[in-house]
Amino acid sequence: MLMKLRRVRQDLDHLNSWVLLVVTAATIVTGLVVHLWDLHGFTWHTYFGYALTVAVLIHILLNFRQLFAYSGFRMRRGLRTFRGQSRPSPPAPVRQPAGVGATTKRLLLSRRSLVGMALGGAGGYLVGRGLRQPPQLARGTDLGLVYHQWSSQPGLVDAVGALANLGRQPALYKSYDDAVQVVLPPASMAGGLPTEMAIARRQSLRAYSASPMTAQELSRVLLLTAGLSDGGRRHHPSSGALYPIETYAVVHNVADVERGVYHYSPENHLLEQVRAGDFRTYVVEHGLNQQFLGECAAVIYLTLIFQRMRFKYGERSYRYGLIEAGHLGQNLYLAATSVGLGACAVGAYDDQGIEELLAIDGRDEVSVYLLSLGRV
Ligand SMILES: Cc1cc2nc3c(=O)[nH]c(=O)nc-3n(C[C@H](O)[C@H](O)[C@H](O)COP(=O)(O)O)c2cc1C
Repeated sequence: MLMKLRRVRQDLDHLNSWVLLVVTAATIVTGLVVHLWDLHGFTWHTYFGYALTVAVLIHILLNFRQLFAYSGFRMRRGLRTFRGQSRPSPPAPVRQPAGVGATTKRLLLSRRSLVGMALGGAGGYLVGRGLRQPPQLARGTDLGLVYHQWSSQPGLVDAVGALANLGRQPALYKSYDDAVQVVLPPASMAGGLPTEMAIARRQSLRAYSASPMTAQELSRVLLLTAGLSDGGRRHHPSSGALYPIETYAVVHNVADVERGVYHYSPENHLLEQVRAGDFRTYVVEHGLNQQFLGECAAVIYLTLIFQRMRFKYGERSYRYGLIEAGHLGQNLYLAATSVGLGACAVGAYDDQGIEELLAIDGRDEVSVYLLSLGRV
């Protein structure tokens, strides 16, 4: 009878070991999915996590005796070694049924099987990557649609590929070490329209007054558009909290700020001068002759650093980056409207000319959006 019970317990323990193995693998894979795609509501990971906890508890319960016997042995041995006494013999092993030892030995992985597994995994990964054929581009194809479809299914293979292929995460903040810095006045949050009113009144304004915008106003709009809150959080959402968007201001007419091109540092809430000068004509010419781009107080340029997302999101990075630029754009509209300034989003411009102006390469970092800002 006792023998039978012991056998049942051993079978249960064996079965639970397999459950542990499977559930651990599932927890790891679903955890990767959660992490790689920011799927915070992906409940499978939670369920497997609970199942894993239950399996671990069963394992501890079934091996309770060995656990405590060995702990006791270690403690006794430790104490005796400390007092300079001779080594006690370990506790007698729990009796195994015939054949169990041999099975355990057979389950151990040989070096050959490890190499086989690694090769199989690498081969499977390569085949998986290869299964997705590149899109066939016929003349007149809508590249937007091609990109949309090509990046439409984030697969597990791509996620693993992202880990393996797409490089490292670059720094979260861009900095210009030797640049002239313009410290912005502390942005006051006092006054301004309530959120509902700012949303209701937002509109694109293209007729600007010649009176300069104040540094205080620029400071407030930049902070609310792209800056950090008191608690260090950004004012806009970002997939994976990777923040690929950089912000620049081409200043035409802001009191106490020299005309020129500046990079905005959200980390320190200051402007870093990229180049000094009057770029009103240049900005209009490279903004498809939209005159208001030279008449506003400043043009705010948003750029995208691909690698900030690419190492994690692969082909979907561009989608997420553009969406994020939109969030900043709306922040700017609302911040401007709230204090009576005008703003207008602009998508029609010559990328190359703008990228030269901002001193970015148009490859690692590209211009994606710009907005005029000024008194109306
Ligand atoms: C992505 C995008 C690109 C735009 N490009 C331009 C542009 O190049 N020139 C312009 O005058 N307005 C541009 N606009 C502003 C739209 O013309 C404007 O939002 C639209 O007419 C609706 O008017 P409202 O913003 O006043 O509600 C753009 C808006 C968006 C969202």
